[in-house]
Amino acid sequence: MRAVRVTEYGDSDVLDVIELDTPEPGPGEVRIEVAATGINFADIMQRRGHYHGGPQPPYTPGLEVAGVVDSVGEGVGREPGDEVVTMVDTGGYAEYVTADATGLFDVPDGLSFEEAAGFPVQFLTAHNCLHGWGELEAGESVLIHAAAGGVGTAAVQLARETGAEIFGTASTGEKLDLIADLGCDHPINYEEEEDFVDIIDRETEYGVDLVLDGVGGETTARSLDALKQFGRMVVYGAASGEPGTLRTDNVLFANQRIVGYHLGRALALRPMQVLEAVPELTELLASGTLEVQFDRAFDLDDVREAHEYIERRQSSGKVVLTP
Ligand SMILES: NC(=O)c1ccc[n+]([C@@H]2O[C@H](COP(=O)([O-])OP(=O)(O)OC[C@H]3O[C@@H](n4cnc5c(N)ncnc54)[C@H](OP(=O)(O)O)[C@@H]3O)[C@@H](O)[C@H]2O)c1
Repeated sequence: MRAVRVTEYGDSDVLDVIELDTPEPGPGEVRIEVAATGINFADIMQRRGHYHGGPQPPYTPGLEVAGVVDSVGEGVGREPGDEVVTMVDTGGYAEYVTADATGLFDVPDGLSFEEAAGFPVQFLTAHNCLHGWGELEAGESVLIHAAAGGVGTAAVQLARETGAEIFGTASTGEKLDLIADLGCDHPINYEEEEDFVDIIDRETEYGVDLVLDGVGGETTARSLDALKQFGRMVVYGAASGEPGTLRTDNVLFANQRIVGYHLGRALALRPMQVLEAVPELTELLASGTLEVQFDRAFDLDDVREAHEYIERRQSSGKVVLTP
């Protein structure tokens, strides 16, 4: 089968498409013929070697796939031909991947494989950060950084459905238009003249109730200035390439809570807590209440270009690979 291989950490030119043996499903596993693989920012950080506990080269990247069950291992209640979505530790950038059968979801009704491949990581992260970890309630306010990204566009829609007032940051006018269309009440360009702390100061009495931070660096520290007393901040990524820095005296005097979220580790340790949102999310996607903001599909052979497109901050919403 054709698969992407990372043989050393580095820039996008370490991504090669090669021939590998097609994997066989073990007991409790299925083999999926991949129709689409979601690209996540984590794939880029892993490729750069900047990901805590990430895979060691040589490895095949790819954390989530949508496709058709093609072969079934012992003790599995699935049939060849089932159309499924799942998350995997690695290996999604390939024509075939094996996966634990207990982690399969059906492709939500009405979604293409490309859209379905964009659902698990980003929608579960957005849902868990807003609700399970962030405890967002109707009538509260939330600041969502990188709101036009994959997690961001999912989070804006979910916060809208919750009935929250939404502040969202992004780096271009087009991205601001997109998040406004999705229901963001206050789109803010954090790369230009607009200071999100000043805007939140002006628009709210004491700051926001919740911050979702997947950007890190200076953005994390500044976010505390926009967070009210007893506010919560969920830290789930560092797309800027720099971890966030915090002064704990701010946190202490404002009675704030800073909570970390990592999908992979939480899935391993508390799978029920992570996955309990799946039925609700698939229903909302099938009914069209939520939409995967599909940006572009790249052919597997164009994997380098796909990573560069995301690294240059050109993407809005979801980018996928098709083998
Ligand atoms: N903890 C978890 O379990 C988990 C799960 C999923 C994702 N994540 C993390 O969440 C973050 C967002 O993930 P995603 O999949 O939504 O990514 P994405 O769609 O690629 O969005 C990332 C966005 O970050 C913003 N950004 C800010 N500074 C950047 C920089 N220096 N270089 C590139 N982008 C920059 C860009 O938006 P603007 O141009 O608008 O600023 C970019 O579009 C990533 O850090 C990812 O690793 C964590």
